[in-house]
Amino acid sequence: MQVIKTISHLKEILDQARASKKSIGFVPTMGALHEGHASLVRQSVLENDITVVSIFLNPTQFNDPKDLERYPRTLVSDCELLEKCGAQIAFAPSVEEVYPETDTRTFSYPPTDTVMEGEKRPGHFNGVCQIVSKLFYITNPDNSYFGEKDYQQIAVIRRMVEDLRFKTRIIPCPVIREENGLAMSSRNTLLTKEEKNIAANIYKVLSESKNTQMSLKETESWVTDKINSIDGLVVEYFNIVNGLTLASIDSWNDTDNIVGCITVYCGKTPIRLIDHIRYK
Ligand code: PAF
Repeated sequence: MQVIKTISHLKEILDQARASKKSIGFVPTMGALHEGHASLVRQSVLENDITVVSIFLNPTQFNDPKDLERYPRTLVSDCELLEKCGAQIAFAPSVEEVYPETDTRTFSYPPTDTVMEGEKRPGHFNGVCQIVSKLFYITNPDNSYFGEKDYQQIAVIRRMVEDLRFKTRIIPCPVIREENGLAMSSRNTLLTKEEKNIAANIYKVLSESKNTQMSLKETESWVTDKINSIDGLVVEYFNIVNGLTLASIDSWNDTDNIVGCITVYCGKTPIRLIDHIRYK
């Protein structure tokens, strides 16, 4: 596997690959890779001639500097994992390489980027669109792989791809979970063992909520109250929304694509965890 640091070098290699009619799969990451990322990379390796994985901790999508500061950085072990998964290229540029000047572009795709994470983390999706659009321009992939753990992010990126007419296919990949049900996330390494066990209750309660016969609004309150009653967990929001537009809905009959999205603070630090559940 090649580790490439500059845009010009990556473009040169990918131009040659395209000239020899090779398909390009792309997996954008911020590093601190785990089995969830590995599953995206393996899928890309199966479906493309060349898999490029970007490892770039994108500062423009962090609205909280402390969150950026404590984000795990593990380039050496990340590259080892990518090599094992069969990726051909790791693209690990510096911040100066990606942003030689401040990126002043703005993106707006309501309601996908204004509700939930969009409301709680102002500027977050703008930063995601800045980096993902740059990476799409650089790699021009046939297929791009995103984890459904960041469910809202995929909805925003789909809108950006339509808007900017990128030709890449967006391939959503299922959440990979720990044995206890906790959604895998780079942030999980910041949790203690005990906190990980507590955090497993998030998905447990979400799963249980599929079997209650309550109205949509009652389900929102039931999940929120049940998780808040567990020591060490505080719900920031739990919204049951249209699974495509992410617009809020009032009844189970409003659409046939319904997803519940949750953000929970866990532990003393505390660590912000997100998850979701599909109702239909
Ligand atoms: O999902 C992530 O890890 C990031 O938001 C992404 C897509 C790599 C952009 O920095």
